[in-house]
Amino acid sequence: MIDYDGEAGGYDASRGGEARAAATAEAVEQLLPAETCALVDVACGTGIVTRRLSRPGRTILGVDRSQGMLALASGRLPHRVVRGDATRLPIKSGNVDAVLFIWLLHLLDGAAPVFAEGARVLRAGGVLVTTVDKEEGAFHAASDVAAMTAPMRRQHTTRATDHFERVVALGASLGLSMVGDTLFTGIGQGRTPRQWCEQIIAGRVPWSREASPAQIADLCRDLSSLPDQDVARPDPLYRLIALTC
Ligand SMILES: C[S@@+](CC[C@H](N)C(=O)[O-])C[C@H]1O[C@@H](n2cnc3c(N)ncnc32)[C@H](O)[C@@H]1O
Repeated sequence: MIDYDGEAGGYDASRGGEARAAATAEAVEQLLPAETCALVDVACGTGIVTRRLSRPGRTILGVDRSQGMLALASGRLPHRVVRGDATRLPIKSGNVDAVLFIWLLHLLDGAAPVFAEGARVLRAGGVLVTTVDKEEGAFHAASDVAAMTAPMRRQHTTRATDHFERVVALGASLGLSMVGDTLFTGIGQGRTPRQWCEQIIAGRVPWSREASPAQIADLCRDLSSLPDQDVARPDPLYRLIALTC
């Protein structure tokens, strides 16, 4: 996993900044019941999204295990963030109306312990909102890069910890059923073919990490042959789903 303590200082700017946070928070809010009073943002990071979910009468707690990310979050949400692990939330059972996992599941080796913990702290009728299929977000819209990378991505997608069908099945095993979903745009985060090659070669693209050196070389050669090498392809569209118990 990325070293989030080291990443913290540049995290917000490198992930779309306030525009991304605003789009994410707006999408989350669409999935929250109007009467959401107690909300926990698990893996809140720098709090850039969490802060935007504050409302009069709503209690918010951000939890993250990275001290570096939390240092920034505590500036945004004084006394409302704590250091902790998603598998051991410092919250009583059945105590919150909403649990958020925004860009957490794709980082994990397995989502079951985290999901079980989210279900534990939810009150009956509460909602768990999570991102799914993060790596596929960049390819939601058709493009030449999407078409060219599809065969390599296909092998990875269903194995991803945040794969939609796996997440829904995991929720069902814990008595959670899906009640809604929505999309939000990763504003300004579309990549050029050249940037895709750089990221793939640097090993920063999960769906290419298990490919052989020859497969990587072939893909990057093909990507380098595309027109408009420095024109960003469509911004990603990220998916959020809501489950209830
Ligand atoms: C991609 S960032 C997302 C941050 C935030 N949700 C956002 O959308 O800006 C992932 C965050 O998950 C945190 N994290 C990863 N594994 C965790 C765990 N097991 N328990 C708590 N936090 C965790 C990292 O420290 C990091 O801050």
